[in-house]
Amino acid sequence: MDREKKYKKTLLIDSDDEKAIMDAAEHLKNGEVIGFPTETVYGLGCDARDGEAVRKVFEAKGRPADNPLICHIGDKEQIKDIVSEITPLAQKLIDNFMPGPITVVMKKADCIANETTAGLDTVGVRMPSHPVANKFLKCCGIPVAAPSANLSGRPSPTGARSVLEDMDGYIYAIIDGGDSEYGLESTVVDCTGKEPVILRPGAVTKADIDAVLKDGETTIAGNLTGSKAPRSPGMKYRHYAPYAQVEIMKMPEGTKITGDDTAGSDGRIKKTSFTVEDLKKLSDDEAKALVNIASPFILRSREILAGNPFARIGLYCGEEIKAVYAKLNDKILSAHTEFCVYGKTTDVSMASHGLFEGLRFLDVQEVDVILAQGFDGEGLSVAYMNRLSKASGKKEELTPGMPAPARPLRLPLPLDAFRDTYTASVLFVDDNNTSLSPCCEALMRRLIEKNEPYISSRTADTGFEIYCESAGLTAMSGLDPDPMMEKAVKELTGWGLGSIESRRADPAIYDDNDLILTVRDEQAYSIIKAFPEIKDKVFSLSTFAAANGLVMKDSSGRIMSISVPDPSGENFETYLHTAKALGAWIELLFPYVLKDLEASRI
Ligand code: TXA
Ligand code: MG
Repeated sequence: MDREKKYKKTLLIDSDDEKAIMDAAEHLKNGEVIGFPTETVYGLGCDARDGEAVRKVFEAKGRPADNPLICHIGDKEQIKDIVSEITPLAQKLIDNFMPGPITVVMKKADCIANETTAGLDTVGVRMPSHPVANKFLKCCGIPVAAPSANLSGRPSPTGARSVLEDMDGYIYAIIDGGDSEYGLESTVVDCTGKEPVILRPGAVTKADIDAVLKDGETTIAGNLTGSKAPRSPGMKYRHYAPYAQVEIMKMPEGTKITGDDTAGSDGRIKKTSFTVEDLKKLSDDEAKALVNIASPFILRSREILAGNPFARIGLYCGEEIKAVYAKLNDKILSAHTEFCVYGKTTDVSMASHGLFEGLRFLDVQEVDVILAQGFDGEGLSVAYMNRLSKASGKKEELTPGMPAPARPLRLPLPLDAFRDTYTASVLFVDDNNTSLSPCCEALMRRLIEKNEPYISSRTADTGFEIYCESAGLTAMSGLDPDPMMEKAVKELTGWGLGSIESRRADPAIYDDNDLILTVRDEQAYSIIKAFPEIKDKVFSLSTFAAANGLVMKDSSGRIMSISVPDPSGENFETYLHTAKALGAWIELLFPYVLKDLEASRI
């Protein structure tokens, strides 16, 4: 389905702004689409009685119109108006689990548009417990049809920023209600028969439902955990798909997990923290158990790297696993690993809470593979594994009509959105600082700008600014760059070398920079020889590549090192060739530079 931008900008509404929420409700009633928070994931709401409005939702999501939408209400009184029958079973689930992360499927009333239910004679009804959702739905006062607010096929959004990422310009407004507590969509239960059938597992588990039924038992439709043939076609395909391939790392058998039993939980997550220091305090048995959980990640990563020394691997794992990696101190493994930590390793509610945003985050780091922690519990784990196994489907198993996963678009986010900002700087060094090192500086600056903004990879609420400069070991200060190089860089990037003036490298400049990269090996050696105390941050382009395990081979299989010819005195073609070669190296090394500086893209 073609998507067409309808607005220059989508309004972002603060959850405290009563007036703006009322205005958003008015717009919804007039046929517009509004993004709003719930305790499961964000939804894209519209008037469920208005077929035209529902079509707009499908269009904004780029979703084929054959998948029914859930009707959201702010008051249980509304249910009788939107269904034609409330079975005793449905009533029981409404009484016990609403408001909360459940959708009860009942026979629909005529007022609900056929577009909402995709032609079915049933409708899914859900009353969110999220206070902002409740306030908004009460303001609307009508049944609000809402699918998850992601672009079709992408991980569901559990924060307003992700909704904006997928929907900016396509919908009128988004209400920002903070992080969704549960992070996985509601349990969908068909209650049109005598016994409930779970069509989609969620935080209200089979055990929770069985516990309120006097007799009978809940059935789980098809096999929603993904190992057997699915019941409905939509379930068999890759879904929630990040661009990277996802692989599930099994939890060793017998591992005790927490957070699986969600009865009575409000989905809220307590923050935890675990470091290498904490690892040292564990008993031998506890440490061994953690190493057993970490092993599949480590072994699989090494296998991937053996096949492709350029592979970048994202880990969706617990904080203890990250600590095990730190203790292991394998430099190459670390340089190729991007972490997204959800909290305590064995806690499935934390893993569920962070899953969708985690997949999105790792995609933005442009990893090739995501290794994600698996859980084998019977409660919330069923829902978590259901989503994860859909995310790990093969790329060719996309739902027909669904857009193929694309690298996510990234938002300009001002650094003042953060509590704190760290800075780091990269220095390029050659001999005279009029040609090769200014070229590196200009190309690196361009990459830095292209990939902005950044956060600290240690603390997600801290922004990160990256600078780049250059200097020459034997440079005369104050010279303009070589005009041929200026021209070559301009041809390559559309930018010139700007105001780069040559200057002599000195200890103060070395001190100001966190990573020093020289064009040639001997330049790095000479810096290290003069200042051995800074050896850990000085590399040549070649040794930096090698230190990160990047083994480049030529067509005959010989290991190549980075050799940059000096173009001075040669023709323009040679300059252009040199600038292109430097550009290729810098592009290749860029993710490792970020890693070295402890910065991540957002
Ligand atoms: O937590 C949630 O349920 C979120 C938030 C926004 O409330 N909504 C959500 O909507 O996940 P969506 O459209 O992404 O998923 C709705 C699911 C689909 O799997 C759909 O097939 C099923 O609910 N569904 C909706 N109405 C149905 C019906 N009448 N019969 C069977 N399945 C239905
Ligand atoms: Mg969805």
